[in-house]
Amino acid sequence: MKILLLGPDGQVGWELRRALAPLGEVIALARDNPAGHCGDLARPDALAATVNALRPDVVVNAAAYTAVDKAEGDADTARTVNAEAPGAIARAVAASGGWLVHFSTDYVFDGSGDQPRDETAPTGPISVYGRTKLAGEELIRASGCRHLILRTSWVHAARGGNFARTMLRLAAERDRLTVVDDQIGAPTGADLLADITAHMLRRAVVDAGVSGTYNAVAAGEVSWCDYARHVLAWARQRGVALKAGPDAVHGIRTRDYPTPAARPLNSRLDTTLLRHRFDLHLPDWRSGVDRMLGEALNLP
Ligand SMILES: NC(=O)c1ccc[n+]([C@@H]2O[C@H](COP(=O)([O-])OP(=O)(O)OC[C@H]3O[C@@H](n4cnc5c(N)ncnc54)[C@H](OP(=O)(O)O)[C@@H]3O)[C@@H](O)[C@H]2O)c1
Repeated sequence: MKILLLGPDGQVGWELRRALAPLGEVIALARDNPAGHCGDLARPDALAATVNALRPDVVVNAAAYTAVDKAEGDADTARTVNAEAPGAIARAVAASGGWLVHFSTDYVFDGSGDQPRDETAPTGPISVYGRTKLAGEELIRASGCRHLILRTSWVHAARGGNFARTMLRLAAERDRLTVVDDQIGAPTGADLLADITAHMLRRAVVDAGVSGTYNAVAAGEVSWCDYARHVLAWARQRGVALKAGPDAVHGIRTRDYPTPAARPLNSRLDTTLLRHRFDLHLPDWRSGVDRMLGEALNLP
């Protein structure tokens, strides 16, 4: 199997390099690459030409415009990268009869209510990022290509910056932290997502009937505030020097912490379809976060 991987240096893309390797030849195409093929999602037509030239069996798109706040003032670029480019890739994949794997987000929803949403729930994005990601999904579905769209949330990885690292840095500098306590979701490891992707692809290549959109997040739920407390408790237990421990994390409402882009309060995603159709067990979010922390801090 020939797999074209876009965005191979992001959180999820990096883990996909590992997880996809046993499936076949992985061509990892970053935005700038010396080989002459275009891996830049800001250039949808050139990207489609790359897909046509390489004729992969599978395109895995882990690239996206993920700067949620910046996107509010840069909607055209966000739309090109998150919607037009996936659409152009999907049409090229449809023409060649391959598969497209794409990642989407809980931000396609408005975040109302307190129940998990399944894949059939009405969408209603409240930010530029959310709207452009939803438009990307819709263009992929409209292309008629066989696809796996994985909607995920609150991605973390040992590599690169992330929320847990930021909390650890701030807790080393300050006596007290304030973190929003009314956004609820599931922190999900890039490693878990990559492994799920490889598992789904193994099934997909022998059963085209699994083409579709799936919620893919770790099990359980937590607020950002309790997530921060969990991270600091984990670190303190292992002797990491902190000025602020878990008791020094104070909750704040989202409405009292203004950001350029609105965030959904309810990011709960129902994963029943994914688990049943692919015989998957999704671990609790804590196991992935603890493992990521151990790796990021080089602690057991
Ligand atoms: N992070 C989250 O919490 C989260 C939550 C829900 C869904 N998702 C989705 O999950 C997927 C993977 O996200 P992630 O967390 O791995 O994001 P990430 O770490 O920000 O990686 C995104 C990658 O896309 C690349 N990229 C951006 N613009 C590009 C362009 N024009 N051409 C080529 N590459 C470009 C980035 O490269 P540069 O670094 O060079 O810009 C980066 O390597 C995305 O579809 C995202 O929307 C993420």
